[in-house]
Amino acid sequence: MRLVPRLATEPLRPPRPATTFCQTFLPPAMTQSTITSSALPAFTTRVLPVIVITDVAQAVPLAHALLDGGIDAMEITLRHAAGLPAIEAVARAVPAMHVGAGTVTRPHEVAQVRDAGAAFALSPGFTEALLDAVGAVRLPFVPGVMTPAEVMRARERGFALMKLFPAEQAGALGMLKALAGPLGDVRFCPTGGVSPSNLGQFLQQPNVAMVGGSWLTPREALEAGDWGRITALAREASSLSARP
Ligand code: 3PG
Repeated sequence: MRLVPRLATEPLRPPRPATTFCQTFLPPAMTQSTITSSALPAFTTRVLPVIVITDVAQAVPLAHALLDGGIDAMEITLRHAAGLPAIEAVARAVPAMHVGAGTVTRPHEVAQVRDAGAAFALSPGFTEALLDAVGAVRLPFVPGVMTPAEVMRARERGFALMKLFPAEQAGALGMLKALAGPLGDVRFCPTGGVSPSNLGQFLQQPNVAMVGGSWLTPREALEAGDWGRITALAREASSLSARP
């Protein structure tokens, strides 16, 4: 056990490689001895598209378009009734895509998205009841936080990867740098205000594991079935987020 507190000048632990993000998803009830690594969402992308699907028919071609652009994970939100069946459609038809559920804000939704085939879930925040529901099912989860106290509460519940949301309003890079001092063992997925123009800066932050954003899946492109545009946006994001 470490008895000497971390000094402000000590470096952060190096960021985890992409393929081990999944370790930080594990809710407290799960341990490596109770879940096999093959059951984890070991995706490689560091850019997670946040998607509002309004027609389930968009889901599978969208998943292929993202994969064609080098992005192997997607967050389909529950903001529209088509979200849950869209998760199910991708989970069934596109095994190479790691499909997650977003905007999971109510405890009963955790089992719903798990049953639909979501490999992981995220929330813009968290409540104790929501974390209890997550602990009751085998579903990797990323709770949303905006303040140091929320980070500490989520960490007490066993989470090491959190969604900083809304990242821009929370202070963006300045907030992430400030959190890195006292809460340097936590990794973040900033979402809200991330774009190709600031993506690289976010990903260079040692405490940023990945970023989320809606810019990859513009509503008009989804409605028009403009999959070429989405592949181009995904390719641009993949290239901007490539490790040196
Ligand atoms: C989210 O839904 O997680 C965010 O609203 C996405 O924010 P963005 O539209 O700024 O990417």
